[in-house]
Amino acid sequence: MPRTATPILVAATLALGLPVAASAQSWSDQPVDPAADHPQVPVAYEDGGRYYTDDDIPTYNVAEDGTVDWLTFSGFRRYHSECHVCHGPDGEGSTYAPKIKNSAVNMDYYDFYDVVVNGRANGNSVMPHFGDNQNVMCYLDDIYVYLKARGMDAVPRGRPAQKEAKSDMIQEAENACMG
Ligand code: HEC
Repeated sequence: MPRTATPILVAATLALGLPVAASAQSWSDQPVDPAADHPQVPVAYEDGGRYYTDDDIPTYNVAEDGTVDWLTFSGFRRYHSECHVCHGPDGEGSTYAPKIKNSAVNMDYYDFYDVVVNGRANGNSVMPHFGDNQNVMCYLDDIYVYLKARGMDAVPRGRPAQKEAKSDMIQEAENACMG
């Protein structure tokens, strides 16, 4: 599934996209009950080290001993280099930007992508657009999956202690995306 390679193209055509409705911000304010049914969470299948739901939405996988899938680990690193300056450590939010660990659970995957690719403005509250930033776009599934795991309390705060190895497929997709 070449999802990681396509956002750059999407970005090129949608970079001037209109801001999403301001009411959408409440995604981050809605609490998450990890015990409730979240169809966008359970793993249905694995493909080359990536995990997907029934609806082919990327998701995290945490083994019983706490070992996380590669994307969750990579997402932790990417989040903390690109997003945490505004959204706070571990996706917890700040006085300036919303708690996007909740957004990753409550928002539709494609809406989440759309906000990051095109940005969003609500008065003085501005989410920059990252559609032309390879360091974000090539790892957006990683960041999304990591935040979803945080929102569901499936991984603790901080750096995951144990991770799966990076698969050849993930490495190849990264090389192709980063060019
Ligand atoms: C310069 C500060 C800044 C940076 C860096 C930043 N954001 Fe944001 N982001 C914001 C602000 C502010 C908002 C709220 C915008 C609004 O009020 O509509 C936001 C909103 C969002 C939302 C919508 C949340 C919701 O519940 O509706 C998502 C998703 C998001 N950001 C993801 C990211 C990701 C992923 C990154 C890193 C790649 C990132 N942001 C980096 C400032 C930032």
